[in-house]
Amino acid sequence: MKPKLKAISRFQPEPRETILEIRNLRKVFNINNAFVTVLDEIDFSVKGGEMICIFGRSGCGKSTLLNILGGFIAPSSGAILLNGKGVSKPGPDRCVVFQEDTLFPWLTVKENIAFGLKGRTTEKKASEEEIERFLSLVGLSEFRDYLPREISGGMKQRVALARVLILKPKVLLMDEPFASLDAQTREEMQNLLLSLWEKLSHTVLFVTHDVNEAITLADRILVMGKDPGRIRDDISVDLLRPRKREASEFLLFSRELYARLRD
Ligand SMILES: Nc1ncnc2c1ncn2[C@@H]1O[C@H](COP(=O)(O)OP(=O)(O)OP(=O)(O)O)[C@@H](O)[C@H]1O
Ligand SMILES: [Mg+2]
Repeated sequence: MKPKLKAISRFQPEPRETILEIRNLRKVFNINNAFVTVLDEIDFSVKGGEMICIFGRSGCGKSTLLNILGGFIAPSSGAILLNGKGVSKPGPDRCVVFQEDTLFPWLTVKENIAFGLKGRTTEKKASEEEIERFLSLVGLSEFRDYLPREISGGMKQRVALARVLILKPKVLLMDEPFASLDAQTREEMQNLLLSLWEKLSHTVLFVTHDVNEAITLADRILVMGKDPGRIRDDISVDLLRPRKREASEFLLFSRELYARLRD
């Protein structure tokens, strides 16, 4: 499907070379002594700087796919190539932000953000400057000394974002990172993610089952079907950014996506 909608985006990074290739991925789980194919014939490429949403109903295998890309689960067959090289285990080139709070509760906001830098930078000053920069980028400079229990859910996800972006991953993997936030905070986080993406130009694979979230964020939406999980559609979202939910083009797109989910 490709809705007949075109607009020139205010910000649309020039598509660069292919960074990630997913080739004929398949995942079979043994569920209650039966082999169940959860993912099948997953095949797509991602260009550097692309913002891709993986979209589909609950249970279609989105998290399984993201965990395979992160190297946390081995595929049953198929290959993942990052810059042409096969990947099979977790690495700093692919960072993940999850839905649930994964911050270290005993570390402050600043210490959580700094954690991954440990052992990486020999120049202490350079990393101090980096930490301050990322605290500021996610709007948490004033909260640097707070503990995770002293900040809101939205702020925790800001810390989670800064903590991985400071590592400069080639690919940022996000599994419904804003799903447990209230609607307004969720929109704020989507806007923050887009502004960080404009500044840092990282490549993002973002899992969601929320139609509005997918259309707000994505350059491309990969629509997954279920049983087995396959990519049924690869849709380019050529809408002007920032995207307004009340705009007629947005509503048209969302109607199309809802229809895709029902198919
Ligand atoms: N480790 C596992 N062992 C066995 N089956 C699993 C395992 N992980 C996932 N599954 C099964 O694979 C299918 C896809 O699960 P997955 O969590 O990837 O779906 P999802 O699209 O992320 O769903 P949701 O939107 O609810 O998060 C489900 O049927 C699930 O029960
Ligand atoms: Mg999931």
